[in-house]
Amino acid sequence: MSEIVLTARDLTRHYDVSRGLFKPHATVRALNGVSFELEAGKTLAVVGESGCGKSTLARALTLIEEPSSGSLKIAGQEVTGATKAQRKQLRKDVQMVFQSPYASLNPRQKVGDQLGEPLLINTSLSSAERREKVQAMMAQVGLRPEHYQRYPHMFSGGQRQRIALARAMMLQPKVLVADEPTSALDVSIQAQVLNLFMDLQQEFNTGYVFISHNLAVVRHVADTVLVMYLGRPAEMGPKEEIYNRPLHPYTQALLSATPTIHPDPSKPKIKIVGELPNPLNPPSGCAFHKRCPYATERCAAEVPELRLVDNRQVACHYAEQFVA
Ligand SMILES: Nc1ncnc2c1ncn2[C@@H]1O[C@H](COP(=O)(O)OP(=O)(O)OP(=O)(O)O)[C@@H](O)[C@H]1O
Ligand code: SF4
Ligand SMILES: [Mg+2]
Repeated sequence: MSEIVLTARDLTRHYDVSRGLFKPHATVRALNGVSFELEAGKTLAVVGESGCGKSTLARALTLIEEPSSGSLKIAGQEVTGATKAQRKQLRKDVQMVFQSPYASLNPRQKVGDQLGEPLLINTSLSSAERREKVQAMMAQVGLRPEHYQRYPHMFSGGQRQRIALARAMMLQPKVLVADEPTSALDVSIQAQVLNLFMDLQQEFNTGYVFISHNLAVVRHVADTVLVMYLGRPAEMGPKEEIYNRPLHPYTQALLSATPTIHPDPSKPKIKIVGELPNPLNPPSGCAFHKRCPYATERCAAEVPELRLVDNRQVACHYAEQFVA
């Protein structure tokens, strides 16, 4: 069994928000109990509609924000309760790539200097050694030596995302969290950038948490898929199981809304009706019940626990009935 690089146990993140003068504060349960293990060199893909808590999860995993509760281990070391020095060390091991490379890159600093910066801060390499490492990484992500002296705005969107990825990989982190890294790019270059992500993962044996609302992209990159709904896991398991036999009605609906080359006429089409509920006022019972075609009275009353059914975890009272 290969090394576990990231372990999340019942992670939650709640935000207190003001609803206006004279009104009591309300709590958004943006992330409400997520657990998983990630192995070195593997990819956990996180999918779900806008607002389901994907970026909140990403911020908790990369130590940008503290979780409200739950535990997080990076390469076996507990983050909660770690000293400042330990956290600094752990932060090097989880890097992040954002949807917009401008969130990761400094517009006023030359690309070569930006790539060298993590080495300058965290290693005792000489300037010549740093330059050599930067140039090697630039070549690896398909940039030319003369790009060293250029500024981010002089590159195309795809190239900028290559630079952001190179920067994230400079210290060879154990984990890379990528939040919609290709969704702002032209469709024509998305595949190239995705392939680069996969190449670097192979090269450095990095564990990836890959966030995307695009199920075709996820199918390409994932080993394990986590489907989120309103801050909670709806279904999580090996990619093949999730794509071939989705058991949660929400997963079924997401997949039947995704165009495929060979549609299976035997599989019923499920439409997601209505809007995502307001996270300030989530529905009782199963959070999906107001939109689920199979909902019963039990669904409105009782929260379905995440449990193991047919080789994946699923939070639906009737999951067994969907096993073909
Ligand atoms: N700082 C914050 N304060 C209050 N509420 C927040 C904060 N950050 C996120 N939220 C709320 O938490 C929920 C989850 O947000 P999040 O950004 O994690 O969703 P997401 O799945 O990344 O969506 P998208 O696909 O649009 O990026 C949303 O209801 C959002 O409004
Ligand atoms: S628990 Fe009920 S409402 Fe929720 S997904 Fe399952 S059948 Fe639908
Ligand atoms: Mg997001």
